Amino acid sequence: MAKGRKNGLYPEISEELSALMRTGWADTERHDLVPDEQAPHAAARRARLSARFPGERLVIPSGNLKTRSNDDDYPFRPYSGYVHMTGDQARDGALVLEPRADGGHDAYCFQLPRDSRDNDEFWTGATAELWTGRRRTLAESARVLGLPCRDVRTAAEELAAVPAGGPVPTRIVRGIDPALERAVATDEERDAELAEVLSDLRLVKDAWELGELRKAVDSTVRGFTDAIADLSTAVATSERWIEGTFFRRARLEGNAVGYGSICAAGDHATIMHWTDNDGPVRPGDLLLFDAGVETRTLYTADVTRTLPVSGTFTPLQRKVYDAVYEAQEAGMAAVKPGAHYRDFHEAAQRHLAARLVEWGFIEGPAERAYALGLQRRFTMAGTGHMLGLDVHDCARARNEAYVDGVLEPGMVLTVEPGLYFQPDDLTVPEEWRGIGVRIEDDLVVTDSGHENLSAGLPRSADEVEAWMARVAG
Ligand code: GLY
Ligand code: MN
Ligand code: MN
Repeated sequence: MAKGRKNGLYPEISEELSALMRTGWADTERHDLVPDEQAPHAAARRARLSARFPGERLVIPSGNLKTRSNDDDYPFRPYSGYVHMTGDQARDGALVLEPRADGGHDAYCFQLPRDSRDNDEFWTGATAELWTGRRRTLAESARVLGLPCRDVRTAAEELAAVPAGGPVPTRIVRGIDPALERAVATDEERDAELAEVLSDLRLVKDAWELGELRKAVDSTVRGFTDAIADLSTAVATSERWIEGTFFRRARLEGNAVGYGSICAAGDHATIMHWTDNDGPVRPGDLLLFDAGVETRTLYTADVTRTLPVSGTFTPLQRKVYDAVYEAQEAGMAAVKPGAHYRDFHEAAQRHLAARLVEWGFIEGPAERAYALGLQRRFTMAGTGHMLGLDVHDCARARNEAYVDGVLEPGMVLTVEPGLYFQPDDLTVPEEWRGIGVRIEDDLVVTDSGHENLSAGLPRSADEVEAWMARVAG
């Protein structure tokens, strides 16, 4: 929090106070720090990036704080491409890959170091550590990250300087750090290619990332169990209770939630991104609960279960649920190395199109309905997406590597078909209106097929009912 603000009680700092503040501090430099366990993996990722841009300087910023009001900031979330290439989460940082004559790169990191105690910055400045907590020294950052580190406060100047040998062709990821962006005069299209490659390079997860995603899913399973165990309190209060219960688990075991939890009871289940979570939870209704714990290293799960609040599905709810379950089974069966990314989506959507034709909600035959995409009125979204540091991971990857690509071992994705009958949809009988069902699991592609990381959560209608009978309070 920046001090000396308008309406501050102490506009003046006496010389005596200033002198008093500067003295009497212990040396807290940490010499015990060792490289983060992710450091060698980040180095391997940087090597792959380096090979794509010989002779060019690459600047990958982490991002800055965003003001919420006055001297209050929103929680900081670093740019995922920066996290992937460094393992670091510091604000105001930037990774630089400096080209070498042999075509490779030397990597270093700009960091915001500790405030000096030789002036008043550390307790009155915009980044005052005394108010927001101790940062790492540059030497500490170098040890943890396994990278040389420099002071970010001179980064713009250093990057703008033209070296004796002439300008260095440079690319920066845009939209992350406006000051650094201004300092390097770069070409928008070439910069977009850098962002694209950074996204591509995250499509296949390394062993360390898979371990983190497993942790994220395992914590998420515990968070779902917490929320279901306390469902009676949600019935007595609102969807907010479910959100809060899951969030407590996310904070305890991870960093936070990886996206706004969707705690959607009754009609709200038909709203894809319902995050207001302020409605009632009524027995007889369905609860569509979509949430994911994000690890402290920022990898997130993304899981959905749709549950009967009373503990038992009505025959109609079960009919819809079973159709979505079968679609998910068909989708998951199509997740294997060498399959096209679109295959699992198409398998699930075909199944749902056939059911919707059978029920008389769209005109058949089923293959024609599917070809025309008629099922989309009720399925709304695609059947999944890549998962990792971002919930919708690798969003800037090349189409040919992602939606038009082929699955490879190490890719992690969600399979999440759904059916949503809007409360005001006059094309379906009244009793169907307001029913929304999604089932979402997180799969890793293996050498021989896939592993469902979220298999720890009951999934079929019978399993869900048995689970609720066991756990729900
Ligand atoms: N929770 C967002 C999604 O399922 O894609
Ligand atoms: Mn989800
Ligand atoms: Mn999802």
